Amino acid sequence: MQQAYTAYGPIVAVGSPLPFIATRKPFIFTAGAQFNRAALNDTETWRPWHIFCRGPRKSAMARLGTGIIRMTGRRHAHYRQLFTKPLRKEKVEALGAQMKRVTAEGIASWPVDEPIDLSSSARFLMRTLALALLFGDDRARGHAISEGLGRLLECNWSARVFACPVDLPVTPYGRMLRDAQAAERQILDWANSKRGNKDERDLLSVVVNPPEEDGNPPTDEIIAGHLPTLFGASFETCQSVLTWTILLLAQHARVSRDLVDELTGKLAGEPPSLEKVAELPFLEAVIKESMRVLPPVPIQIRETRQETSLAGFAFPRGARIILNAFLTNRMPDLYPEPDCFRPERWASINPSQFEYSAFSAGPRKCPGYQFGMSVVKMALAEILTRFRVSLMPDARIDYKLRIAMLARQPIPLVLHRQDGKFAAVPIRGTIAELFKLPEAA
Ligand code: HEM
Repeated sequence: MQQAYTAYGPIVAVGSPLPFIATRKPFIFTAGAQFNRAALNDTETWRPWHIFCRGPRKSAMARLGTGIIRMTGRRHAHYRQLFTKPLRKEKVEALGAQMKRVTAEGIASWPVDEPIDLSSSARFLMRTLALALLFGDDRARGHAISEGLGRLLECNWSARVFACPVDLPVTPYGRMLRDAQAAERQILDWANSKRGNKDERDLLSVVVNPPEEDGNPPTDEIIAGHLPTLFGASFETCQSVLTWTILLLAQHARVSRDLVDELTGKLAGEPPSLEKVAELPFLEAVIKESMRVLPPVPIQIRETRQETSLAGFAFPRGARIILNAFLTNRMPDLYPEPDCFRPERWASINPSQFEYSAFSAGPRKCPGYQFGMSVVKMALAEILTRFRVSLMPDARIDYKLRIAMLARQPIPLVLHRQDGKFAAVPIRGTIAELFKLPEAA
């Protein structure tokens, strides 16, 4: 998409984005606020389109790929209202004490002066926080279900499943379909255990207990479909932000020093709390800049429900638009030296949600903004006050896209006691192609 943007401009229609996918419906690549505004505000014309899941229409695999992100109309409005309530600012603030405890406990077990895998450690921490604060704190069950769903997602994207979609006991595709049935059963067992006990701090109980918008109880299909989306939305994204922010900090000694100065100055020896981290402008700027350069959800896809036009071009029903947050976040008029990780820029800019689309925008923008920012701030504050983070020299780090942008392989990171001796360590791999460090990094 970057090559198309450079060669042809901010809107490019192609017959098929990949050589082996044949389609008569065009894909429209876009970059920039005007396209975000047009497509994200007009939910009547542009409905969500997602690549998960590869399975027959009535299979468990297909059912697991539904959920709020795929819903439209009254049903979408109903669930959006249910999920938005417990994620409001005042509700998230009320979780402050628990968030502080779970974050501190999670990080206390990270070893000093030994390599860890940043990616899986960030994943476990963010998942634990989400399970503790948004899913009723049944961590053993939640972690197990999440592991199963993670494996399914990997299968869904694997070339072997793609190349041979034949449902036999021995084929990867067949095994994926059966694993999906098992995952669906686990989710429904978990959901059943929450019947009759609606608790706002437990999003699954919020799905199971109230009637749907038409007054009927939610079907098993609806219930099972919500959980993978809610899990993915609530911690895959936060994992991505935490991982890439630490990676950027480990590359940038001056920003790390300034951030640790802010943290130690404000906390004055006290452990980080939600009230305190909410008052740290440079911490917020570092996270926003990290999400600008390495957006956790780099693309959003929408599909037209009717013939429409965009920027003077006509498109048929079924055309798909790819809204590219990665490119939108690099528009040079708003972000000079757009490829550079430079958190200071946030002291003088205030882009709209369409110009900075880390959390999307319009009627379907992310309702988890407060929670996501809060847990990432708490985790970073806790990690950086305890440890100086250092990447293993010459590590190869590649990214992969699984709706969220994640690391393809383990990221070897060493945690030293925080001694202020910051030093950037060069890395290799595709992630290093996505950003530049300013001079004097
Ligand atoms: C830093 C963390 C987060 C980021 C960057 C993020 C980003 C996004 C983005 C880009 C979308 C739009 C996706 C699309 O339409 O294709 C979205 C939707 C959504 N997010 Fe988040 N998110 C984060 C945290 C959370 C959390 C903690 C929750 C809590 C459950 C959450 C719940 C949702 C939900 C339910 C939607 C669907 C909204 C709808 O369709 O109306 N997100 N998020």
